[in-house]
Amino acid sequence: MKSLSFLFLFLLLSLDTTAQRTAILGALDQEIAILLDSLKEKKEVQRGGLTFYTGKLNGQEVVIGKSGVGKVNAAYSTAILLDHFTPKQLIFTGVAGGLHPEALPGDVVIGTKLIQTDFGQIDSLGFQISPFRKLSGGRYEDLYIHSDPELVQQAEAAAKQVTFLSISTRAPRVFSGVIATADVFVSNQETAEKLFADYQALATEMEGAAVAHLCRTLGVPFVVLRSCSDNANKTARVSFNQFVRLAAINSAGIVLQLLYTMN
Ligand code: ADE
Repeated sequence: MKSLSFLFLFLLLSLDTTAQRTAILGALDQEIAILLDSLKEKKEVQRGGLTFYTGKLNGQEVVIGKSGVGKVNAAYSTAILLDHFTPKQLIFTGVAGGLHPEALPGDVVIGTKLIQTDFGQIDSLGFQISPFRKLSGGRYEDLYIHSDPELVQQAEAAAKQVTFLSISTRAPRVFSGVIATADVFVSNQETAEKLFADYQALATEMEGAAVAHLCRTLGVPFVVLRSCSDNANKTARVSFNQFVRLAAINSAGIVLQLLYTMN
């Protein structure tokens, strides 16, 4: 009987709780800073040259990491994170260039679909986007990568509960829709308008679709949350520097509320 109890205790202790974790990634230090500040029972884990932090955030087991900027860094860090921690879901949080004509810095975009806008071919007509993607396992998928509908719904509900920081008298707006990803910082009005017209993209950034592609490859539900630091126009760099912190806080605010409501 005693040995049975020991066996039970041993099995209980050796149970892998990592499958219960929610993974959270941001590209920059500023994008994960307030989440790390609130992280309880924080432990540092080094994997693949990257630093991840495990612990409890608003009552939920999480693992938080910094992907670095761009699709290559995003894909690498997502692969390492998913392979090592096998989280139940992934939330990407950060800032973006707003593409909706009415978007202001501080506004939020919940990514229902992600698209790599620099994946295609150049022919006599110029750049043509590829009509599909192929996952590493061999499966073909549509170019638009859908976020998990349940996580999108939870993020939309969470956003209603958050008091966002604002740069003007109007409260930040919350948009849901397409997010465009490319290995380029867009600071050109014409390009911004084209991304909105061609793909109905509400925001442009440099990691989301790469993270989404990896999550699809490994079957992990995900959602990408962004807040606008700029409008991807000629003042984008200045605006980015001015509002990156505010936008990062607004996006992370949804993450915190989302985790809180999962309890
Ligand atoms: N992240 C924040 N602003 C951006 C922009 N204008 N282009 C690409 N990524 C961004």
